[in-house]
Amino acid sequence: MEKITNVVNISLPLPHGGQLVDRLRPEAPEAYAHLPAIHLSERSYADLELIATGVYSPLEGFMGQADYRQVLAEMRLQNGLPWSIPITLPVEEAETYRPGQRVRLVYRGQTVGLMEVTERYRPDKEAEARQVYRTTDPAHPGVAALLASGPVYLAGPIWLLKLSRGAFPEHHHTPAETRALFAQKGWRTVVAFQTRNPIHRAHEYLHKVALELVDGLFLNPLVGETKSDDVPAAVRMKAYQVLLQHYYPPERVLLGVYPAAMRYAGPREAILHAISRKNYGCTHFIVGRDHAGVGSYYGPFEAQEIFAQFSKDEIGIEILKFDHTFYCRACGSIVSRRTCPHGLEHHLLLSGTKVRELLRAGQGLPPEFTRPEVAEVLRQAYAGKEAGTWKS
Ligand code: ADX
Repeated sequence: MEKITNVVNISLPLPHGGQLVDRLRPEAPEAYAHLPAIHLSERSYADLELIATGVYSPLEGFMGQADYRQVLAEMRLQNGLPWSIPITLPVEEAETYRPGQRVRLVYRGQTVGLMEVTERYRPDKEAEARQVYRTTDPAHPGVAALLASGPVYLAGPIWLLKLSRGAFPEHHHTPAETRALFAQKGWRTVVAFQTRNPIHRAHEYLHKVALELVDGLFLNPLVGETKSDDVPAAVRMKAYQVLLQHYYPPERVLLGVYPAAMRYAGPREAILHAISRKNYGCTHFIVGRDHAGVGSYYGPFEAQEIFAQFSKDEIGIEILKFDHTFYCRACGSIVSRRTCPHGLEHHLLLSGTKVRELLRAGQGLPPEFTRPEVAEVLRQAYAGKEAGTWKS
């Protein structure tokens, strides 16, 4: 059995940079109570976990200035590996921390990690916004988060003292775990799907086209911080679960959360998303229309085009690029411009805004757009049962 697992493992891609980073150090936090504390935002805590569990391999800590600059200017780390979005630790109170000092990382009152401060530097946030987000517009949610974060970045290697399994523990897997699970299932090829939206039939279509080609689907919804009008992760998780239950072969799908915050950086975020999924052990990654986009800051296929700036080997995960897909009444199925000859009058195109409008009005979503089981989860959420502070 051991042997078979190893053989199957060989077909999974190597992590970015060759080795899966493991910065977990399960130790009692009390031992570090004497160290100065840095308080982490939800976003930075998510980054800490992603670094520590190897989702962001080869990063072993928050980025120093040399990597930061090179990532902004060239989308590469100092060692030449592709990397598109700086992973930094913004702080307010940096004056008290000096290079060479060890600090404890505190989240929601608990010491969760350690960091060896190697550098502190002051970023040019406007330049960062322009390069990462291609805009300095504070209405862009990624830019807004950047501008609201602390003015100084601390850099250095980190350790995570305890792995929290978050709000969806049974769907929380580290890359080491997903790699073992894929091997156990005998999957030699695995397609990953990033999503931050309630699942609709166009998503399902992308999955199923991909599943005709590969062994398994890693449905990997982002459950970190999102903008306030995105549907909350708990509602989306419910929607993914009912969809899987009714419409997918269970032995060919793994549902696992992606704990990162959403940056809404479109093309650059697509690269980060692809690299993270390679680290989880996936061989393929879906990039469709306006991946990780928001508003009209990015062209609908720029997140696909950006991959041309790197060789396939450098990225190391195959990008499955999809055209815009939607339901066509004349075809009676989900189609794209590549497969459907009919005019716009036959096409059912619902924007996110339109969907929210229908839900707010208590109306059902058309079954051509959303499976009835998913529509019901959303309807209930909109009726206020689980929406909490969800503004919409
Ligand atoms: S994202 O911010 O996570 O990209 P979303 O959950 O809507 O948002 O999309 C998940 C993935 O599905 C992305 O790769 C996106 O490009 C793709 N996608 C979503 N809707 C469509 C569609 N109608 N046609 C083609 N691709 C789509």
